[in-house]
Amino acid sequence: MTPETATLTPQGHVKDPKLADQGVNRIEWAEREMPVLRQIRARFEKEKPLRGKRIAACLHVTTETANLMLTLKAGGAQIALCASNPLSTQDDVAAALVHRHGIATFAIKGEDQETFYHHIGATIDIKPEFTMDDGADLVTVLHTKRGDAIGNVIAGTEETTTGVIRLRSMAREGALKYPILAVNDAKTKFMFDNRYGTGQSTIDGILRATNRLLAGSSFVVLGYGWCGRGVASRARGLGAHVVVTEVDPLPALEAVMDGFQVMPAPEAVKRGDVFVTVTGNIHVLRIEHFRDMKDGAIVSNSGHFNVELDLDALRKETKSVRTVRPFVEEYTLPGGKRIFVLGEGRLINLAAAEGHPAAVMDMSFANQALGIEYLLSHAKELKPSLYPIPKALDEEIARLKLEALGVRLDKLTPEQIAYLASWQQGT
Ligand SMILES: NC(=O)c1ccc[n+]([C@@H]2O[C@H](COP(=O)([O-])OP(=O)(O)OC[C@H]3O[C@@H](n4cnc5c(N)ncnc54)[C@H](O)[C@@H]3O)[C@@H](O)[C@H]2O)c1
Repeated sequence: MTPETATLTPQGHVKDPKLADQGVNRIEWAEREMPVLRQIRARFEKEKPLRGKRIAACLHVTTETANLMLTLKAGGAQIALCASNPLSTQDDVAAALVHRHGIATFAIKGEDQETFYHHIGATIDIKPEFTMDDGADLVTVLHTKRGDAIGNVIAGTEETTTGVIRLRSMAREGALKYPILAVNDAKTKFMFDNRYGTGQSTIDGILRATNRLLAGSSFVVLGYGWCGRGVASRARGLGAHVVVTEVDPLPALEAVMDGFQVMPAPEAVKRGDVFVTVTGNIHVLRIEHFRDMKDGAIVSNSGHFNVELDLDALRKETKSVRTVRPFVEEYTLPGGKRIFVLGEGRLINLAAAEGHPAAVMDMSFANQALGIEYLLSHAKELKPSLYPIPKALDEEIARLKLEALGVRLDKLTPEQIAYLASWQQGT
């Protein structure tokens, strides 16, 4: 045990218990915007579908995640929660979960790598029957270092694109030992959380860290997937000139038709004032790119892992590094050029801001809660592999969200139903 983890108990490990009351208030604030999860919690409270089930969760420890944990607890589950990123934890939320809600939570904002993995280990110590992951670190530890606990695991869920990619490759190589639901791939998740959530909160993180005016600046988005689309459209909304880089012809074409300038990274780096990587890939911005950037360029990442920026290479070439504001490090290159790296290259929306707004996490976490409930009755039929969230659950979540927003749908007439099912009728 390191000095940092010396105070770890089975009840949890948090920065400061005195933050608990603030955490309770903020968790309640998020709850107001999570009507779908509230409805699920009310039903779980009555039916207790998860009674006695042990769940290890590795998620960003935010106010929204706290509401998911309270929902699982209402359903009767025993939970242990740790952070899915060393810099995304909200310490007041972690304190509230342990000291007000009795949910074992192991997470401290800024924890070192060793503590991060120690905390994952602490959630595995409850011998989970279900895992809930965001980025597949928990699953990886279970499959590599903690094989002792894997026999108890019945099934799991995965929250994000990067986790889904890692799990797909485990399944392909026959390494995955239990079935996992890809929550990320539900439409009520990626079309809203990745696009509107990452879009808004990434800009929020950059602004909180730098307080820079985006209007009139040149803003480069690397990767035009679901997250990239959101970030690019929000940056444009604030008046930035947005440039997109892509490696896939379809999203590149979409970005062109959406009105963005598309060009390879070596050209984009010469123009950009602000950069955001959102690819899920490694070393998207490399040393040859940093060298060509303007003096004062701001560089950030909102993809799951900090590997999108090759900061090791930048550090090697840098004369000096100093922190100039919270979450802003100034790297000075030999010729005097300065590059500002935000949040140590970790997802900037969670490092410097509060992550996605609750209204969007409402749907993502409704998928998590209903996904675990689905696995309770269906896991036995599933081989170790990756599975989509059933379409019926996805549609149910969209229906509940619309209901909560007071939006009503139109109905098909019997004639229209028959028409859509037929092939004989033409003009
Ligand atoms: N910050 C957050 O809160 C948050 C939320 C959701 C997802 N994510 C993460 O964001 C990342 C992207 O997720 P997504 O759902 O948009 O994925 P996606 O698969 O929809 O999009 C990724 C895009 O990046 C492109 N790409 C890959 N390598 C590239 C390169 N070298 N240069 C330029 N483009 C490249 C791909 O062609 C693809 O279009 C993942 O790591 C995901 O886990 C973060």
